[in-house]
Amino acid sequence: MYCMNSVASISNTVAKHHLEVRGSNFLSGQIKISGAKNSALVLMAATLLTEEALFLKNIPSLTDINVMSELLSSIGVRIERKSNEISLTARDLLQSELPYKLVHALRASFVCAGPLLARIGEVSIPLPGGCRIGNRPIEEHIRGLEALGASVSIEKGVVKAKLPKNKKKLKGAHIKFNCQSVGATETILMAATLAEGRTVLENSAQEPEIQDLANMLNSMGAQIRGAGTKEIIIEGVEKLNGCNHTVIPDRIEAGTFLIAAAITRSSISLTPVIPEHLEAVFKKLRECGCLINTMGDSVKITPNEITAVDVTTSPYPGFPTDLQAPFMALMTTAKGTSKITETVFEKRMQHVSELNRMGSSIKLLGNTALITGVPQLTGTSLSAGDLRASAAMVLASLSAKGVSKIIGLDYLDRGYERMEDKLKKVGADISREKITISANKNSKEGFKPLTPQSIQQEVA
Ligand code: EPU
Repeated sequence: MYCMNSVASISNTVAKHHLEVRGSNFLSGQIKISGAKNSALVLMAATLLTEEALFLKNIPSLTDINVMSELLSSIGVRIERKSNEISLTARDLLQSELPYKLVHALRASFVCAGPLLARIGEVSIPLPGGCRIGNRPIEEHIRGLEALGASVSIEKGVVKAKLPKNKKKLKGAHIKFNCQSVGATETILMAATLAEGRTVLENSAQEPEIQDLANMLNSMGAQIRGAGTKEIIIEGVEKLNGCNHTVIPDRIEAGTFLIAAAITRSSISLTPVIPEHLEAVFKKLRECGCLINTMGDSVKITPNEITAVDVTTSPYPGFPTDLQAPFMALMTTAKGTSKITETVFEKRMQHVSELNRMGSSIKLLGNTALITGVPQLTGTSLSAGDLRASAAMVLASLSAKGVSKIIGLDYLDRGYERMEDKLKKVGADISREKITISANKNSKEGFKPLTPQSIQQEVA
């Protein structure tokens, strides 16, 4: 027993951060948009297709990018990083086994399977498992690799794929995806660049991040047509070269800041953006009462009275699931009742209960939320359950009366580069505060492990 308590007193003290937001400020000025997280991650994985160096510019500074770097380093990729630029060289790959700890930490790391298999003929990668927003199966990735000629088995939770004996290359194939999956399209697209002959991918995902990947692969010497449409055609090539590439601006970060302006009834501008990537978001913001003006690679938003509009998420070019939670935060302050339906992920409504704790009026019926706008939200202590939910908490706090304290910043830092600094620059009253949390070591029950609830209590 004594041992447990002494361990508690030494190690059960954690330094964490929370965001403190004093709401109701108007915002004004310009925000610089970072490189797209979901592009950068997959572009980094594409280094596995070539022994030459890849130079990527506009890499966002995010924890997910750090995990991908660690994962690639663990199998022999040499990586140098200087501010927002990174060089990656996969000349001597040491192994084809990806470590569980890192794959588990970053689900997107499964896209490494395609390029590793194509380049060295085998890969062993743990099943990434579900996550807080849903089950997130990967059978489409596996089906695609099999169609390209790989033999795939799953042993003790690890996917093992290899080329058949006497084969040196994957073989082009006609593959029709059963669902539009960003990750599966990227995995198979990369694998097919080095396959023998032609591959046709039907029912591909059409997200801008896939177009960015195809553009970079083409500069490396690949022959890809049709990325950004449902049918992608890839003529396999013998080898790929290194290249220089600049990551596209993050459309989800841009969408989040547009909603920050709308929820605080403020006018701000953002740059750089690719307006075409944000069409579905502009449409809904215009519908609910915002003026949106684009000029070159900038956009300015000027909100009027915000009224309720309905949103249903869907794959690109539809309204992105990644902005569903932030948009719901906006609708809690709109005039009237809106209906938001999530169709991409089955568990992406965790922000509802936290928003209701701020005084919003949201009823959840399965994956549809009915939101009746209220005149004002009230700041409180909040816990973010996933990346985009944490962004929604920040936005709701910006418009709320009083102080909000948001914990769970590990999620926010996965996908938003210095969010509080960017918001502070345009006038938000927001700061990152350090909290040191200790277990209740004098408790009669002895050692009490830290839980999200106990952290919440300490923050409150
Ligand atoms: N799906 C299957 N089978 C598969 C693959 C996917 O049923 O084999 C289903 C999923 O369960 C889901 C839907 O297809 O219902 C779409 O999943 P998709 O594979 O497109 O998602 P992903 O590639 O795992 C990426 C982004 C997500 C973003 C989704 C949808 C990256 C690293 N992640 O995930 O980003 O929400 O596409 O646009 O690119 C985020 O940034 O917060 C985030 C979660």
